[in-house]
Amino acid sequence: MFKTRITKLFGVEHPIVGGAMMHVSKPEFVAAVSNAGALGMMASAMYGSQDEFRQAVRKVKDLTDKPFGVNLSLFPALRPIDNDLYVEVILEEDISVVETSGHRPPEDLLARLKAGGVKTMHKCVSVRHALSAQKAGVDAVTVFGTEGGGHIGEIGLTTMVLVPRAVDALDVPVMAAGGIADGRGLLAALALGAEGVTIGTRLLATTECPIHDNLKQALVSATEIDTMPILGSLQNTVRAWKNAAALKVAELESRHAELGEILSVVAGTATKRMYEEGDLNAGVTPCSQGVGMVREIRPVAEVIEGMVREAAEILGRLSG
Ligand SMILES: Cc1cc2nc3c(=O)[nH]c(=O)nc-3n(C[C@H](O)[C@H](O)[C@H](O)COP(=O)(O)O)c2cc1C
Repeated sequence: MFKTRITKLFGVEHPIVGGAMMHVSKPEFVAAVSNAGALGMMASAMYGSQDEFRQAVRKVKDLTDKPFGVNLSLFPALRPIDNDLYVEVILEEDISVVETSGHRPPEDLLARLKAGGVKTMHKCVSVRHALSAQKAGVDAVTVFGTEGGGHIGEIGLTTMVLVPRAVDALDVPVMAAGGIADGRGLLAALALGAEGVTIGTRLLATTECPIHDNLKQALVSATEIDTMPILGSLQNTVRAWKNAAALKVAELESRHAELGEILSVVAGTATKRMYEEGDLNAGVTPCSQGVGMVREIRPVAEVIEGMVREAAEILGRLSG
């Protein structure tokens, strides 16, 4: 229904990317997103070794013959990330799309991917960063508004302002992310000039999402006021679900606690325990203000197709 430079660039049916989600974007989930006609996105940082990553890539390939992408994290990390190891696998396994997020993507990394026929996009939170990524050679840019779940940074721009500003400033296609959770958000983003959207939080409450049912139910009950930015004191602001762990982080930050104390609460192992065992206060999870629009757990394909259908219906209604 909606065809843009993004659907053409990535070879997908719908202008929707299922955003990479650390500890969540396992092969079955990524494949479910791609099979629904959107672009599934692996989170390479989930894999501690090149071999584990390669096995995961092969598993996605077993589960879908549709395109999918790999996210390379350029954020500061506790466990040092050697993206070169992932890039080797990406090139050997003929992955068609790579998304970078975090710091500016290095030009040599982009050139290597480009030479291997890989399409690249960079996710960032300001027009300045978007222009810098365009200059470095990416094929597309995703601008991420502060209402979104994950690394929102310290600038605080909303999707509503960031998207048209980026569209006006860039030549490459722009994708919108942050607070988009249904067909209304999809159509609004397209109206602002975006050529696609990246969604994360909406996909947490899906049948195929590999997080504990307790957490899915809690997210369905949560409203748009149940998130909070944390880790600003480390210049690494993340919008998270407001549970006891996130409140604890805020309290530690407000009294300038030792870094180690903060890191023990935000540790990936704690987040994984929450995802796997359903202990809702065990750790911190990224979460968007868009969680307020998440009212039921549905299969991934129904969410994606529902978004597209709803956007098309609104467009039809508006154009009489
Ligand atoms: C649980 C969760 C984990 C995420 N992990 C990552 C990540 O590892 N890397 C990344 O670039 N973005 C990550 N994101 C951001 C998403 O890829 C996507 O950009 C964002 O969720 C879009 O905003 P929305 O949540 O309002 O839909 C995460 C988001 C969530 C909700």
